[in-house]
Amino acid sequence: MGKLSIVAFMFCALVIGMAMPWGYANAQEQVRFQNLRLGNEMTTHLQVFVQDELGGENPTVWEVARSNITSTSPTSFGQVRVVDDLMTARPDYNSERVGRLQGLITSADLQVSALAMNLNFVFTSGQYNGSTLCMLGRNPLDNQYRELAIVGGTGVFRMARGYAITNTYSYDVETSHGVLEYNIYVAYVDASSVDQ
Ligand SMILES: *[C@@H]1O[C@H](CO)[C@@H](O)[C@H](O)[C@H]1NC(C)=O
Ligand SMILES: *[C@@H]1O[C@H](CO)[C@@H](O)[C@H](O)[C@H]1NC(C)=O
Repeated sequence: MGKLSIVAFMFCALVIGMAMPWGYANAQEQVRFQNLRLGNEMTTHLQVFVQDELGGENPTVWEVARSNITSTSPTSFGQVRVVDDLMTARPDYNSERVGRLQGLITSADLQVSALAMNLNFVFTSGQYNGSTLCMLGRNPLDNQYRELAIVGGTGVFRMARGYAITNTYSYDVETSHGVLEYNIYVAYVDASSVDQ
């Protein structure tokens, strides 16, 4: 970057900063952002299990909308559901609690069963406590392995990107309880690079 473009960038940053009436873009946050070294990335593989309660006493998946054709569609096209699933470290429901998987799933394919997903991994324990990862993508349910995009994150996972591979670990027809395995491969900027 030339001197002029640096000055222009700083001017823009200043104007944007001043334009925020609620003052959220505080000086400390701006310094942290400017000091981010985008080459300084960490890569991590996370494995979590998601407890999908489609029925039973305390469902964690609820329909909020459907289209005129949902009930006659072989793929439940147009069904929109909100999810707030428990996330655990192991397949067992009673294993260590890691967080929640929350968001929207929409049946969005007229031909085959496939979901358009918009979900957040919300971590509530361990080194990622308080951080989130945002996942978007298409989930073709007939495939054993489905790949979704990790498009961002907060906290430890600021500037995150990557992908997640999921498969159905188990499904109990009697209780409508599914266990989904997620392997998440993510790159994010090492926050400690900012504070050196
Ligand atoms: C959808 O259902 C509503 C209510 O039954 C009906 O008025 C409308 O015509 C339907 N639309 C289509 C495209 O079938
Ligand atoms: C996670 O962080 C919250 C907020 O800082 C804290 O109250 C909670 O005890 C932490 N949970 C675990 C399991 O460390």
